[in-house]
Amino acid sequence: MLRIIGTGSALPEKVADNNWIAQYADTSDAWIQERTGIRQRHIAEDETVAQLAVKAAKAALDNSSISAEDIDLILVATGSSEQLYPCIACEVQAALGAVHAACFDLNAACSGFITAYQTAFGHVKAGLAKNVLVIGAECLSKLVDWTDRGTCILFGDGAGAVILQEQADSEVTQEPVCVMHADGSRGQVLTCNSGRKNGSSPYGEFMQMDGRAIYQFAVRKVPEVIREVLDKAGKQPEDVDYFILHQANKRIIESISARLKQPMEKFPTNIEWNGNISSACIPVLLDEMNRAGKLKPGMKMVLAGFGAGLTWGSIYLEW
Ligand code: ACO
Repeated sequence: MLRIIGTGSALPEKVADNNWIAQYADTSDAWIQERTGIRQRHIAEDETVAQLAVKAAKAALDNSSISAEDIDLILVATGSSEQLYPCIACEVQAALGAVHAACFDLNAACSGFITAYQTAFGHVKAGLAKNVLVIGAECLSKLVDWTDRGTCILFGDGAGAVILQEQADSEVTQEPVCVMHADGSRGQVLTCNSGRKNGSSPYGEFMQMDGRAIYQFAVRKVPEVIREVLDKAGKQPEDVDYFILHQANKRIIESISARLKQPMEKFPTNIEWNGNISSACIPVLLDEMNRAGKLKPGMKMVLAGFGAGLTWGSIYLEW
């Protein structure tokens, strides 16, 4: 059975509240809190995606029972890396001394962690790995135009990591169940071009987003994919202890809770403090809950994410 045996996270030191954003964009603390639930986010000043990924990975390794040499595969989900090569996963490998690990990065925007976890699951079930380090790491603050109130209010920076282990003899009774979807024909509602053809900017052009279209997509597709994964697992929403969702907008999470007819107490959030950190949202939230002692062996959980592509997916798992 595949199980999470360690979690870690890393957030940049600088904290920017909504009033900080209101210095640059025509917005207010009251509007941002009411429409998104966000109070503040962490912004990388000196930190890079790779540094945050390494910090989160070290914390996850310390939280687990294995050593760096035991890791067979490192996957980093990121859509905001400062570099194309070497991949962030290789930087993590070198920093950890995980000399036996194969490494690669993947980009599925805010669905990145869900996609990386499912990729790890596939590798393990194919017999290619036993211990996998899965990381979501982002510096989205570099991709947004801080004068564009339609996008900049939502995003922040950070990294989260989990260690997955295939266990022959495990307390867990059911394998994770995975579902993933994409609709490339709707990709233009959320874009960010690298701009590298000019060779002039390290980060290229800024993110462009049709916020309302993404909102409507999320509140329709996420409950749908959660029902799909639960059907596959032979479970009902009532059986689930926690729904760990991508933290894009608190109103989206509230709407999904209402559509599934499940109380908000089952939908933990940290968007208030971290904003949307894309592929890092879910592992950072898992780490916060794990360290707070809220996750008990055998608990039934659903993870679900959505994002640019468009992509969306869900995982049913037992802790
Ligand atoms: N401050 C003040 N006013 C604003 C702001 C702002 N930051 N943004 C928009 N407004 C105004 C608009 O101009 C509009 O004014 P009008 O009524 O006079 O025309 C009004 O507020 C309402 O605008 P909407 O766009 O309808 O606001 P909405 O409630 O939809 O909130 C938001 C916008 C927060 C972007 C929301 O649509 C959202 O969260 N969408 C989902 C986005 C998302 O999840 N993106 C990440 C996807 S994951 C990934 O892959 C990166």
